[in-house]
Amino acid sequence: MTDLELKELLSLTDPAALRELYDRAYRVKLQYIGPRVSIRGLIEVSNICAKNCFYCGIRRGNHLVKRYRIDADEIVETAVWAYEQKFGSIVMQSGEIESPEFAAFIESVLKRISAATGGGLGVTLSCGEQSPEVYERWRNAGATRYLLRIEASNPELYRRLHPADHDFNARLECLRSLRKLDYQVGSGVMIGLPGQTVDDLVHDLRFFEEFDLDMIGMGPYIPHADTPLGHGIEVTEEYRRRQLEAGLRMIACTRLLLRDVNIASTTALQALGDDGRELGLLAGGNVVMPNITETGYRKGYQLYEGKPSLEESSAESRDNLSRRIASIGETIRWAEPGDSLHYAAR
Ligand code: 5AD
Ligand code: SF4
Repeated sequence: MTDLELKELLSLTDPAALRELYDRAYRVKLQYIGPRVSIRGLIEVSNICAKNCFYCGIRRGNHLVKRYRIDADEIVETAVWAYEQKFGSIVMQSGEIESPEFAAFIESVLKRISAATGGGLGVTLSCGEQSPEVYERWRNAGATRYLLRIEASNPELYRRLHPADHDFNARLECLRSLRKLDYQVGSGVMIGLPGQTVDDLVHDLRFFEEFDLDMIGMGPYIPHADTPLGHGIEVTEEYRRRQLEAGLRMIACTRLLLRDVNIASTTALQALGDDGRELGLLAGGNVVMPNITETGYRKGYQLYEGKPSLEESSAESRDNLSRRIASIGETIRWAEPGDSLHYAAR
């Protein structure tokens, strides 16, 4: 596909044309993956973050957030619960802290999860930028996948989103180290950011392609009032509808371009529409990540406003999810790690 074609697809607004785009992407997903959805239980292990990203509700500068880190015992317990519930895999996500203590903490939790499940549970990490040595220790302790979103592949836009404490090239270096260490590597962007153009999104798609990513996790930007970027943006119904649509178009284009990768239908879609996650699957996504963090912690992990499932317990979300996935004619791959086909083929 040419850049021009991608640009046209990413600019569609006519409902019939959009339907056609989503259907086309869904057919490619069916062809490569079948009517099956992989699930990962998401554990938000810590909201302590050293960074100050302009869009994010748990940025360092937001003093309204009560900070937590879940105890190792409790994380292992949740992981074992997920294993017994046949989740097949989990994601451990946290704010970004580069410290020897944090590196050792995650390493020890990984080893304990691996021992408790006989290595039978796939573990993905999403703990930000770290040194190659730390990535290697975590890989050796049992993590097989890593998610590190590039957030915006246009360095200029990236700089505007993180003016103080981010270095675009350092982030690229992290993605390269992860690849060298034989992780399944995932990245992604936010869609519909203030100041982002359709050309930026085409650039993002080319970035996914050039980096030969195994997994894509991306979602629409949703304002948070206590952040520099979200402050003052009025979130109307029309705004939500447009952000959801922008997210779906991008999922569909990613599926058409990259074909056999894992693409998450993310929580941000669900935050914008009750059936947002299902729509993401019908536009080419094949992974969902239900939140299995103990509900008591969830208020502390509001990356954006209106993040869903604040109260819903993990067991409830599991049943709810099964029903919803079945309602669109897809089946959950229980007890399978759901590795990226793209990675397997490399
Ligand atoms: N809207 C949407 N996504 C966000 N993230 C952080 N803040 C927001 C927001 N306001 C995403 C970032 C980050 C991931 C954990 O959450 O892409 O990588
Ligand atoms: Fe921290 Fe990640 Fe939020 Fe940035 S997006 S402030 S690194 S948790």
